[in-house]
Amino acid sequence: MDNKITLAIESSCDETSAAVLRGGREVLSLVISTQIPVHQKFGGVVPEIASRKHIVNIMPVIDETLQKAGLSLSDIDQVAVTYGPGLVGALLVGVSAAKALAFTLGVPLIGVNHLEGHIFANFISHPDLKPPFMALVVSGGHTSLVHVKDYNSFALMGQTRDDAAGEAFDKVARVMGLPYPGGPQIDRLAQEGDPHAIDFPKALQEKGNYEFSFSGLKSAVLNYLNSMKCKNLPVNKADVAASFQNTVIEVLIAKAMDAVRESGCDTLVLAGGVAANSSLEGRLREAADREGIRFCYPDKLLCTDNAAMIGCRGYYQAQAGIYSDLYLNAVPGLAL
Ligand code: KG4
Ligand code: ZN
Repeated sequence: MDNKITLAIESSCDETSAAVLRGGREVLSLVISTQIPVHQKFGGVVPEIASRKHIVNIMPVIDETLQKAGLSLSDIDQVAVTYGPGLVGALLVGVSAAKALAFTLGVPLIGVNHLEGHIFANFISHPDLKPPFMALVVSGGHTSLVHVKDYNSFALMGQTRDDAAGEAFDKVARVMGLPYPGGPQIDRLAQEGDPHAIDFPKALQEKGNYEFSFSGLKSAVLNYLNSMKCKNLPVNKADVAASFQNTVIEVLIAKAMDAVRESGCDTLVLAGGVAANSSLEGRLREAADREGIRFCYPDKLLCTDNAAMIGCRGYYQAQAGIYSDLYLNAVPGLAL
């Protein structure tokens, strides 16, 4: 381990973020400039607007981050940046800024996979956490079970065939007339509802199947709302939110616990924006406790998109000599 100073940049979706880390796990500063209010009136992220906002925000966010850390550009030893997956125009802003900085400062550039970054947020929140472990990554764009064998060795156990868990939250919220992003809205509403009020379907329930599918569940919620409307019956939105959320959580817990057992790991790690869900974290912890499995999840601020997790991932890549050159490009469909 060394105490290299990493400047990290994240711009894959609707957050412009920069962070400065000392070594792999000490965050000296983190700035997140969110565009959520801008996209809210459109009911979701508008890619063209996101790119334009990133262009405006990126340098002020980097400046503010350095200022908060009490450092200047000349203190930076390496630059880490998200190059995928994400929105191509949004990613390009971060990648271009990172390349320009690495080139002008004469320091190494490290291209980071956003999903690996989400997993690595846990190393910041849990200084003693070490691989191997099983990671459940639940974000707006992905739902995956990843066996983290070592800092630079991952095996994908399974992922979603259609909608990601966060995407399902967002789409269900939208049909219920709730603002974007829907995850936190459903989370809040679900606390007032009965999770067993409505029986929604669960897909791909066979043991040993680590794939997910949430589009059928999303359609089932829509069908339920339409049928209530046709019958002129009142809808208890809190019950719909609670029942939907409970169905997602039960699927995630069952598959994550099966996967951790099969891998022989003694630790389960939660990552991604949906990790901020108040019920998911508590119920996964209970399930893990019952089987003597250690359970970790990141601080709330580090669950959703941020550059600190990218800096942490970048640090461990650099330790293994995994750098990028100045031909680094955005890869919107980058796989794990
Ligand atoms: O990881 P993230 O910030 O962005 C992506 O990489 O996709 O995740 C954003 C997703 C959104 O779908 C959002 O609705 C969901 O995470 N989310 C939540 C909660 N907070 C954010 N979902 C459920 N409950 C929450 N409290
Ligand atoms: Zn993300």
